[in-house]
Amino acid sequence: MTDFETILLDRKGRVGIVTLNRPKALNALNSQLMREVVAAVEELDADDEIGAILLTGSEKAFAAGADIKEMAPKTFAEVYAEDLFSQWDRLSSVRKPIVAAVSGYALGGGCELAMLCDFIIASDTAKFGQPEIKLGVIPGIGGSQRLTRAVGKAKAMDMCLTGRNMDAEEAERAGLVSRIVPAAELFDVALETATTIASMSLPVAIMAKEAVNRSFETTLAEGVKFERRVFHSTFATADQKEGMAAFVEKRAPEFKHA
Ligand code: CAA
Repeated sequence: MTDFETILLDRKGRVGIVTLNRPKALNALNSQLMREVVAAVEELDADDEIGAILLTGSEKAFAAGADIKEMAPKTFAEVYAEDLFSQWDRLSSVRKPIVAAVSGYALGGGCELAMLCDFIIASDTAKFGQPEIKLGVIPGIGGSQRLTRAVGKAKAMDMCLTGRNMDAEEAERAGLVSRIVPAAELFDVALETATTIASMSLPVAIMAKEAVNRSFETTLAEGVKFERRVFHSTFATADQKEGMAAFVEKRAPEFKHA
């Protein structure tokens, strides 16, 4: 297992837990943290004992954005040549489900990182925003694209142009988060949720994730056809036989992730 400085990596049963851990900077996403999150998540994705990944921060901040102090002095030539933030794209190639548990600030890159996960469970204290415009920049880790797909054009424009925050209630109404729980229960609920996902057949969970994600990349007719083909291929798994046999025999399934 790799050593990390800006995150904590833990395993509970079949769930891998990545906790952002730069408390003095409200988990601002500097380049080291970016490298470490990507490495940890890829390590968990490759680990046969892991079925789902939980990404979280602290009670005060999931993450307050890209690290402004690190970014401020950079020139155009530098950010362009290094393709600043492009490494975050690697999270969208992760095959296992990733749940984000968000408490407190999820601003700028913090909101974008949460949206790179498969879904977001928010505490009642969560605040989401894309305040980049107040710094003279625009979102750079997919915010203008993923926020628009999540909440629609009106709210995405409002957020990206005014830089205002959304509280948890508004985020849930708008479809940015799947549910809201009291802050004190966030971690337990998110872990229980990830544990439930990890108890399902891993290949089938990966197929379900892939099918939902396909809806953002294709037409409805092609997406429905893709889904049906993948549905057919679940019948090649031992877990489909087990899942349906368990239902008929009125017992809990024992998936072998095969
Ligand atoms: N980058 C670097 N440092 C940050 C930071 C960030 N994004 N957010 C907070 N910090 C640091 C503060 O500088 C401060 O450090 P010092 O104690 O050394 O001064 C520490 O974290 C605590 O922050 P505050 O004192 O500001 O805490 P607060 O409770 O008063 O305010 C806050 C909290 C409203 C979140 C405020 O910190 C804030 O506005 N942060 C910046 C939010 C932001 O603009 N995010 C977007 C960044 S740009 C981006 O993300 C680009 C992109 O799309 C990729």
